[in-house]
Amino acid sequence: MFLVLWQLFCAVLAVSAASPTQTVQGVKLIDKRNNFPVSPFVTTRGGQFFVNGSVFTFVGTNAYWLQALNTEEDIDNTLAAIRAANFTVVRTWAFNDVDAIPENGTWFQLITNGTVTINDGPNGLQKLDKVVELAQKHGLYVLLSLTNNWSPIPGIDKPLPPGFNPIQIRQLQGTNGDNATLPRNALSGMDTYVRNFGGHQEHDQFYVNTTIINAFMNYTTQIASRYANHTNVFGWELANDPRCNSTISTSVGCEARHVTRWHSTIAKHVKSVDPNHLVSSGNQGYFCTDCPKLFPRQVAPPPPRPSPAPRVRRRRAPEPLSKAKLLKERKAAWKRERERQKRAGELLDGVKIRGRWTASQTKRQADLGTQSAFDGSHGVDSEDIINIPQIGFGSFQLFPDQFDYSSSSLDTSLPPFNQTLQIGLDWIRRHAEAGQLFNKPVSLTGFGLVTRDNAPFFVPFNGTAAPFGPDQAPPSNVTQAFGVTDEERDEAYSQWIQAGILGGLQGIIQYQWSQNNLTAVPGSAISPVSTESGQSPLPDESGHSPNDGYGILGTGQAQAIESISEASQGFGQDDA
Ligand SMILES: *[C@@H]1O[C@H](CO)[C@@H](O)[C@H](O)[C@H]1NC(C)=O
Ligand SMILES: *[C@@H]1O[C@H](CO)[C@@H](O)[C@H](O)[C@H]1NC(C)=O
Ligand SMILES: *[C@@H]1O[C@H](CO)[C@@H](O)[C@H](O)[C@H]1NC(C)=O
Ligand SMILES: *[C@@H]1O[C@H](CO)[C@@H](O)[C@H](O)[C@H]1NC(C)=O
Ligand SMILES: *[C@@H]1O[C@H](CO)[C@@H](O)[C@H](O)[C@H]1NC(C)=O
Ligand SMILES: *[C@@H]1O[C@H](CO)[C@@H](O)[C@H](O)[C@H]1NC(C)=O
Ligand SMILES: *[C@@H]1O[C@H](CO)[C@@H](O)[C@H](O)[C@H]1NC(C)=O
Ligand SMILES: *[C@@H]1O[C@H](CO)[C@@H](O)[C@H](O)[C@H]1NC(C)=O
Ligand SMILES: *[C@@H]1O[C@H](CO)[C@@H](O)[C@H](O)[C@H]1NC(C)=O
Ligand SMILES: *[C@@H]1O[C@H](CO)[C@@H](O)[C@H](O)[C@H]1NC(C)=O
Ligand SMILES: *[C@@H]1O[C@H](CO)[C@@H](O)[C@H](O)[C@H]1NC(C)=O
Ligand SMILES: *[C@@H]1O[C@H](CO)[C@@H](O)[C@H](O)[C@H]1NC(C)=O
Repeated sequence: MFLVLWQLFCAVLAVSAASPTQTVQGVKLIDKRNNFPVSPFVTTRGGQFFVNGSVFTFVGTNAYWLQALNTEEDIDNTLAAIRAANFTVVRTWAFNDVDAIPENGTWFQLITNGTVTINDGPNGLQKLDKVVELAQKHGLYVLLSLTNNWSPIPGIDKPLPPGFNPIQIRQLQGTNGDNATLPRNALSGMDTYVRNFGGHQEHDQFYVNTTIINAFMNYTTQIASRYANHTNVFGWELANDPRCNSTISTSVGCEARHVTRWHSTIAKHVKSVDPNHLVSSGNQGYFCTDCPKLFPRQVAPPPPRPSPAPRVRRRRAPEPLSKAKLLKERKAAWKRERERQKRAGELLDGVKIRGRWTASQTKRQADLGTQSAFDGSHGVDSEDIINIPQIGFGSFQLFPDQFDYSSSSLDTSLPPFNQTLQIGLDWIRRHAEAGQLFNKPVSLTGFGLVTRDNAPFFVPFNGTAAPFGPDQAPPSNVTQAFGVTDEERDEAYSQWIQAGILGGLQGIIQYQWSQNNLTAVPGSAISPVSTESGQSPLPDESGHSPNDGYGILGTGQAQAIESISEASQGFGQDDA
């Protein structure tokens, strides 16, 4: 099976071999063979990324905390190690909002009591300058996110006290940066605006309140103009995982079209400030199959075919996703399951005689409503968002430990790990198809599984505490240890990457990179090692990058990097 897939993949690569590259920067060139402008920036055409006239595909990693490292040397060493692991793109945060100036550590924007102040000093935007500059030195692209859906405050968001205000938050939080030893640092984002602009303190105010939108647009103006001419900025991501819900509550009225409209407003704005770079969403890829669209699909005329077409093999055009299509798939899956049961002797003339699944359970599965990843529950309609004219490419994520992406085609007779594997493969396939449907490249911008060794460090995105940490009571009466084995993780990553490449994804970014031997400063994102939860299990005394349960550490690291690198062999040209 693998050999067949591999040969297929090599064939795909052969046809997608890059057209001649012209690399004079800043000069508009025309690729004579294909008759379209050649740009030193990442551009798109016909569902693919191009750089200097060549197709560009990539496998990358996430390191959101790069700007929060304490020394330039640490940033340099980390980026060198990422490049040495064969990654060509690193996704990282281009924001760092605080509501009080910390004594130590990086901050970019102070948002407090309805006012904002940008810090462009050495512990401010100059840190981000270093990240971009050193990434260039190491031949890496940076994909920069402008804010974050998640910004829980330790000791506060469980749950928020009624009628809280920013002053109260600071009192509850203690003085600046006290809780920086907790595993998830350098987050901040949407809720920092919501909390500090008074008014209704509900998460979705970020998408609809004009004062807040204005403040965020002001921030994006500063950032996007600062790096508009940097060719190793891959593009802008409007937010990490934007959706209606967060840790703080949201209004009952929040729905997908509010989030879509916000994308349109901000994408237009960022493009007006920086026309050189692509803009993407950063959403998790949820579908809202039967939602009315603000940006209905335009049936584009087929692009003019260049003579020696440098493009990926095209499959049968996929159908748009709809509730009817999902129900059809479910029916087919149910039939397959019945067939399997018959073959296994579990079903005799429709009556179950042995086995784990009774006919009635299978039937109940088949009767379930459309699942949350498809029905707009999260307030995200990724198909409407990818269709926004200023959105250059589609993005989605895959975190099966935290969110449910399952659909009807899942074979529920499989063991749990195999179900997780399958859920990921289905999710990847659907998004690759969406890209073909909308004729835009699609990239998986974050995916990960929590391993058993990492379980004590796992902090959900919406949380501030590790539910399986050493200081936590074991949740209920769980007998099975949380998390997969290192081997299962490597197997899943490898299969997902291969499925992504074969399905036609144009970029794949693992979550997340881990780096040790970093300079530790108390009260910064890299604090000295302590025995509290959230610290690296490694025995050395140096600083570790934040680990929220997805960092690959210790003895398994080399093996994981090797299997990711092996699964992505030949995918990606290095043009940085
Ligand atoms: C916040 O701003 C308002 C209006 O400018 C002012 O009245 C109030 O004292 C400020 N509060 C704090 C804590 O700075
Ligand atoms: C830090 O966080 C922990 C865990 O959430 C909390 O119990 C503690 O009160 C916090 N400390 C301060 C000083 O805010
Ligand atoms: C938006 O936020 C501002 C500042 O917090 C507030 O004064 C205003 O009432 C909000 N607007 C709406 C429509 O809620
Ligand atoms: C945005 O910037 C403009 C111009 O500097 C300023 O007038 C406005 O108050 C800012 N808006 C917010 C919400 O910070
Ligand atoms: C970017 O390049 C353009 C064209 O060369 C120039 O007009 C602009 O000032 C540059 N912007 C920055 C921030 O350097
Ligand atoms: C975080 O999300 C999980 C589901 O992913 C949910 O069960 C939990 O209640 C959420 N926690 C908070 C504090 O919102
Ligand atoms: C979103 O939050 C609301 C309350 O704030 C809750 O009722 C709803 O179930 C949440 N939705 C999801 C998908 O978590
Ligand atoms: C589950 O996945 C593993 C790893 O890919 C594989 O070896 C095993 O055969 C699968 N089990 C089933 C029942 O499909
Ligand atoms: C453990 O789980 C089982 C099955 O859900 C339940 O019946 C039992 O009461 C639980 N025991 C404890 C101690 O929680
Ligand atoms: C740790 O980092 C320091 C400073 O960058 C370097 O001199 C040293 O060789 C590193 N040690 C290890 C074990 O990588
Ligand atoms: C800031 O760093 C200094 C020097 O390492 C340290 O003494 C101080 O306690 C730190 N401040 C905080 C709030 O951690
Ligand atoms: C990086 O790719 C090269 C060329 O394919 C390979 O020889 C090398 O082993 C890879 N490095 C890692 C760390 O996997």
